[in-house]
Amino acid sequence: RADVERYKARIKALLKEKNACLVAHYYTEAIIQELAEETGGCVADSLEMARFGNARPETTLLVAGVRFMGETAKILSPEKRILMPTLEATCSLDIGCPAPEFTAFCDAHPDYEVVVYANTSAAVKARADWVVTSSIALDVVEHLADQGKKIIWAPDKHLGAYVQKQTGIEMLMWDGACIVHEEFKAKGLLDLKQVYPDAAILVHPESPASVIELADAVGSTSQLIKAAAELPNRELIVATDRGIFYKMQQAAPDKVFIEAPTGGSGATCRSCAHCPWMALNGLENMVTALEEGRDEVLVDASLIAAARRPLQRMLDFSA
Ligand code: 13P
Ligand code: SF4
Repeated sequence: RADVERYKARIKALLKEKNACLVAHYYTEAIIQELAEETGGCVADSLEMARFGNARPETTLLVAGVRFMGETAKILSPEKRILMPTLEATCSLDIGCPAPEFTAFCDAHPDYEVVVYANTSAAVKARADWVVTSSIALDVVEHLADQGKKIIWAPDKHLGAYVQKQTGIEMLMWDGACIVHEEFKAKGLLDLKQVYPDAAILVHPESPASVIELADAVGSTSQLIKAAAELPNRELIVATDRGIFYKMQQAAPDKVFIEAPTGGSGATCRSCAHCPWMALNGLENMVTALEEGRDEVLVDASLIAAARRPLQRMLDFSA
């Protein structure tokens, strides 16, 4: 704990000294979220991180999350210096949607409106008409369908299937998935529900359809935190990254949070309800990032211009 306090004090001093602001995702370690709160930064879902970073007066943003979040910050605020604790923090959805293949897929369907999830590279965003996050995906797809558009959806097939089911709109879909949410299993949830019959089930829509079907609330990280506070149930089973418990407990201090079971355990568990890339963010590499300016997010100027258009559309749409 003494070490932790030393790191925290050092990061606080460095944020001031470098005119920097800490922007953290709900899946980062509780200590990072705590620091963001204590220093006037933000802890948020991916949509709010983008909006917050863009509006901040500081010249440097330290983005604790995964790489697409840092790239989004750079695209929206190219004049700012965007640092990350480590540029190695990627995302299986980003990895599973390489820009050359995706561009070829879109080119083969020129009469389709291209909607991509925020969890993608700058190059994939640059090929899109719209960027969405899980908090506004349903609204954007409905809006496009009302205009009679045909839609390409990428890369998360589970979120895409959920959007399709909710809206009744058929989309042409990319075959990508989140390795964390894909591990949640309906059978395990049903077994757990026997132990906690009065618990409500909260599910992030990157989970498989069989898991979403059992949910009392489905939504983005911020929507799940809201649901945790609003639902009358005292016990809540949560199918998303366990990093979210820090904020959920704040939002609903009297409630009991239970991790939804994953498919594997021990050596067979690839993620076990915690994103391995989010876990790469730590106090030590935050200090290094600020001290040395290492792990700066750089995006090619031509990509910034092209990727900014669909991102700005998302922000304007959700304003
Ligand atoms: P949110 O937009 O809900 O914060 O989700 C981001 C993410 O990576 C979920 O796995
Ligand atoms: Fe990507 Fe899944 Fe990690 Fe979110 S939890 S950053 S979707 S791998």
